[in-house]
Amino acid sequence: MGKRAIVTGITGQDGSYLAELLLSKGYEVHGVIRRASTFNTQRIDHIYQDPNNPEARLFLHHGDLCSTEWILNLIYNLLPDELYHLAAQSHVRVSFDMPEYTGDVTGLGTTRLLEAIRRGSPKTRFYQASSSEMFGSAIPPQSETTAFQPRSPYAAAKVYAYWMARNYREAYGLFASNGILFNHESPRRGETFVTRKITRGIAAILAGQQGKIFLGNLEASRDWGYAPEYVEAMWRMLQLDSGDDIVVGTGEAHTVKEFAQEAFAYAGLDWHNHVAVSERYIRPLEVDCLIADTRKAREKLGWEPQIGLRELVAIMVDADLESAGLQAPGRGRAILEEKLGHWNRWHNSVRKVMHAVQGSASQH
Ligand code: NAP
Ligand code: GDD
Repeated sequence: MGKRAIVTGITGQDGSYLAELLLSKGYEVHGVIRRASTFNTQRIDHIYQDPNNPEARLFLHHGDLCSTEWILNLIYNLLPDELYHLAAQSHVRVSFDMPEYTGDVTGLGTTRLLEAIRRGSPKTRFYQASSSEMFGSAIPPQSETTAFQPRSPYAAAKVYAYWMARNYREAYGLFASNGILFNHESPRRGETFVTRKITRGIAAILAGQQGKIFLGNLEASRDWGYAPEYVEAMWRMLQLDSGDDIVVGTGEAHTVKEFAQEAFAYAGLDWHNHVAVSERYIRPLEVDCLIADTRKAREKLGWEPQIGLRELVAIMVDADLESAGLQAPGRGRAILEEKLGHWNRWHNSVRKVMHAVQGSASQH
């Protein structure tokens, strides 16, 4: 009998990759989705299983972090071995427009889960999706001992959630870990985060649908990695002997301008001709530079990323060109096969398990 895990935010970028990873490891996976009037399960449709199938190992449940009713029942009934808490209002710019909501979902949501675990399933191992954004204006490189200086309502909410996870670990002995993850991207990245906005923009430009993309601060630096590698780090964190707080990143940073330059050049375009700056995307406060000090992740998790910026760009541009029906240069696919062949094999093994897939998760 495999382990049982709950994943909040399963419909997001990370949740979808994590669900694939856990299924490939033989877990029974319970994902929490929000009720929506339109389909919001595109990222997990390929792994959906009919719950009536006795072989099914992926189950979806409706829930929202703003309330506790669903959490209590789910945790009491399932007594999961592990709970990966990935759901959040995760957009930094949006958090300035919706600070109270962000505090409720991204901050208090964590407390609601921790409290349900404490009361109903204290052996459950808890993963909190903490963020490098919490470091804010702290001088890079940032490590587990760097003091947080949050610069957005999102970051402040994540700092609160981080401390709640630590408090529940120290006060009640829960296995609660903070993965302090630096930016990680992929073809499944939300369309309004800057990397995906750029790679989708390139596809639209090449398809003749638009001439330019409008961006905000081009000078901000981020430590960008490849998302599927990061969900492996999350899993490894919950396999340790005890809960801990660990920084996960590549240790290298690049500016938004460098990302854009590289991406346009990869697609055979000159970025100068297609990128314009718009005040609309400048934030009230900015985080200038995030660079991970990755020593603890290497030592405790044996985790080492394989994909750097150039590879990431190739993977993302290839994917967006292909989905627009355009010819892609193809280096991204080759890199995935060469460097992450094992991930592709997991992906295939998940596909086989899912052979009985009928319909889509949206039918839930
Ligand atoms: P994402 O793509 O934005 O996914 C967020 C997920 O949370 C979605 O499944 C979303 O559901 C769900 N969600 C949002 N509000 C909710 C609510 N009120 N109740 C229940 N579910 C809700 O984020 P991601 O990039 O996968 O990131 C996963 C987590 O890691 C987030 O907590 C993020 O803050 C954190 N993080 C991300 C990064 C990064 O670079 N990606 C770095 C550090 C930390 P819908 O699909 O219905 O919207
Ligand atoms: N979104 C966006 N759109 N960002 C832009 C744009 C634009 O048009 N132009 C410039 N930027 C800059 C932002 O100002 C920021 O400095 C940088 O690009 C990255 O922005 P995002 O891609 O939105 O990511 P983020 O760093 O703010 O937040 C992401 O990473 C965090 C980890 O550090 C999110 O995934 C957070 O959930 C995550 O915690």
